[in-house]
Amino acid sequence: MTAGPDQPSTRRQEPRTVVVVGASSGIGRAAAHQLAAQGARLVLAARSEESLERARQECVGRGAAEVLVVPTDIGERADVEALFGAATERFGRLDGVVHAAAVLAYGIFEDVPADVFDRVITTNVLGTTNVARCTLQAFSDQGSGAFVVVGSVLAKTATPYMASYCMSKWATHGLVRTLQLEARGRPGVHVSLVSPGGVDTPIYDQAGSYTGRPGRPPPPVVSPERVARTVVRALDRPGRDISVGPANRLMVAGFRLLPGVYDVLVGPLMRLLGQGKEATPAHPGNVFEPVPAGEAVHGRWPHIWG
Ligand SMILES: NC(=O)c1ccc[n+]([C@@H]2O[C@H](COP(=O)([O-])OP(=O)(O)OC[C@H]3O[C@@H](n4cnc5c(N)ncnc54)[C@H](OP(=O)(O)O)[C@@H]3O)[C@@H](O)[C@H]2O)c1
Repeated sequence: MTAGPDQPSTRRQEPRTVVVVGASSGIGRAAAHQLAAQGARLVLAARSEESLERARQECVGRGAAEVLVVPTDIGERADVEALFGAATERFGRLDGVVHAAAVLAYGIFEDVPADVFDRVITTNVLGTTNVARCTLQAFSDQGSGAFVVVGSVLAKTATPYMASYCMSKWATHGLVRTLQLEARGRPGVHVSLVSPGGVDTPIYDQAGSYTGRPGRPPPPVVSPERVARTVVRALDRPGRDISVGPANRLMVAGFRLLPGVYDVLVGPLMRLLGQGKEATPAHPGNVFEPVPAGEAVHGRWPHIWG
């Protein structure tokens, strides 16, 4: 990684080609919209073909130069290889890859069925690994490219009821920081991590739940467009770990510097602010299969920050 946040962005004559993984919902779909408005060529990936087709139409309407849709389960290495094969066959060079796909299941560790836990890890950890490997192979062949991975403030903290998600985000953070160190020997290759706090996306309603209650984003909640702007900017101005969320630094400082206080507060705060009140039967949400009816840019949470 050579460029810092102050390096000026490069202006391009040709539209750039960007693969967006997790393009059917939330932050990934918002990033696809913003790249479309810049006139990019886009490759949109997620599991749901139906939602990807809707995203494709939105991107065409916003000015994308060209949009290719490739239904992909990132937990399947062969799917991800087919995605990158299709992208390079169609467009040749890949200028950027945005990775914004993940799933979530709430519950006390031993209440979450083992197959649900394992699938969250497969998608979030091995899925990220599969995307990273194909991305870096493509960038190695070309000699350059920008890879932006969406992590989480939960990669630096922990909370009850989210063991598989926290574990997967800590793993993602470790992978991305290692890739950044390895990319130092390849001047044209940039790897960035964007770490949001709570964002108003459908992920909370799409999540599995084994707590008897649904999830919700603890405040302060920001808009998916705000995170997407940071992601898109990181394609031109890479960053080691770009935080998005007004309370992130406070949370991380509390976790690291005052762990006794953090541990007393986090459980009650999570039950009060991180879960809805409705009774919810145990269910896996979209962990095993996509739920296209629930996919959109926004969730249903008031957000405070653009
Ligand atoms: N929302 C927040 O508060 C928040 C906070 C911090 C970090 N994040 C992170 O931000 C990123 C985007 O999340 P979001 O909030 O935008 O969630 P979202 O709206 O639920 O979108 C998740 C995306 O991932 C895709 N996906 C899920 N499983 C997949 C699989 N196996 N293969 C391919 N694609 C898959 C989904 O599409 P299909 O289901 O159709 O496959 C969807 O496009 C994630 O890494 C998340 O952990 C979110």
